[in-house]
Amino acid sequence: DLPAEVTVWEVGPRDGLQNESSVVPVEVKLEFIDRLADAGLTTIEATSFVHPKWVPQLADAEPLLAGLTRRAGVRYPVLVPNERGLDRALAAGVEHIAIFASATETFANRNLNRTLDEQFAMFEPVVSRAVAEGLDVRGYVSMCFGDPWEGVVDRAAVVAVGRRLLDLGCSQLSLGDTIGVATAGQVGALLDDFAAAGTPTSALAVHFHDTYGQALTNTLAALRHGVSTVDSSAGGLGGCPFAGSATGNLATEDLVWLLEGLGVRTGVDLDRLADTSVWLAGELGRPSPSRVVAALRG
Ligand code: HMG
Ligand code: MG
Repeated sequence: DLPAEVTVWEVGPRDGLQNESSVVPVEVKLEFIDRLADAGLTTIEATSFVHPKWVPQLADAEPLLAGLTRRAGVRYPVLVPNERGLDRALAAGVEHIAIFASATETFANRNLNRTLDEQFAMFEPVVSRAVAEGLDVRGYVSMCFGDPWEGVVDRAAVVAVGRRLLDLGCSQLSLGDTIGVATAGQVGALLDDFAAAGTPTSALAVHFHDTYGQALTNTLAALRHGVSTVDSSAGGLGGCPFAGSATGNLATEDLVWLLEGLGVRTGVDLDRLADTSVWLAGELGRPSPSRVVAALRG
């Protein structure tokens, strides 16, 4: 059985724009976020409070939050790696944050400058302080299926990292195929392992990148396992600057096309969204990689 309704967790302004070679002006980012809300998206990951030297594309997190017109019924989560990031996010009036852990040692080092164990020491005070402040905290697990340096990732290691994030106080896990190598059987097996470890499916989201064109198939596998929160990025932007082989996220348009066909409610207006991606592609100077955007507007 498929869920009747899916929450689309839009990551375009964050995962999408963090990987652009040019820095997008803050006015364009603000218009992008506004247009995503106009298209019916209710969760829009806005930016990251990470080190500005590590991700210069998102160094404008403060002016972005200051310029944002928050709408009733829309959440604007931001990525926060450490206490310095949390201080900045709290000062900016943020209500939802996401920490981001790695399932592998190498990526913890490359992405966070920490060992796999050290990352939890960094996150622990972030989550406890955030929860005490009444914030909602999501936990990403990156490299859940394959890692460019370590190869295939052990499912038990992924479940262990995910359980540690939940134990810290995260309300939801987003299972990331950071480099887009997963196939549907692996997705089902990992979700089975989380279920066997006692994790309710309602606490799980999936986050696919589309490197091998498997993101939609993987999504369907997750839906069939009861997952009802799916991450995607408008127009299929995205990638990770610390994992060179990462390409774009599952495109929100591709996801919505699938879900509409299945009769699953999303609340997203596909036409307005495709117009937004075409507009943003003009700003970025390159076409959207989304098949659905190309089919609707090409
Ligand atoms: P570090 O160099 O180890 O930091 O970086 P540190 O703790 O040693 O601090 C060094 C200096 O940086 C200090 O300043 C800090 O104050 C400052 P000093 O005292 O020397 O003057 N500093 C900061 N300044 C501003 N904001 C901050 C901050 N933190 C420290 N938050 C750190 C460690 C975690 C900061 C760094 O590695 C970092 O910023 N990493 C971010 C990497 C990133 O954003 N990656 C992309 C997102 S993950 C992703 O895309 C995957 C995902 O999509 C899921 C999937 O696809 O699977 C989520
Ligand atoms: Mg990602």
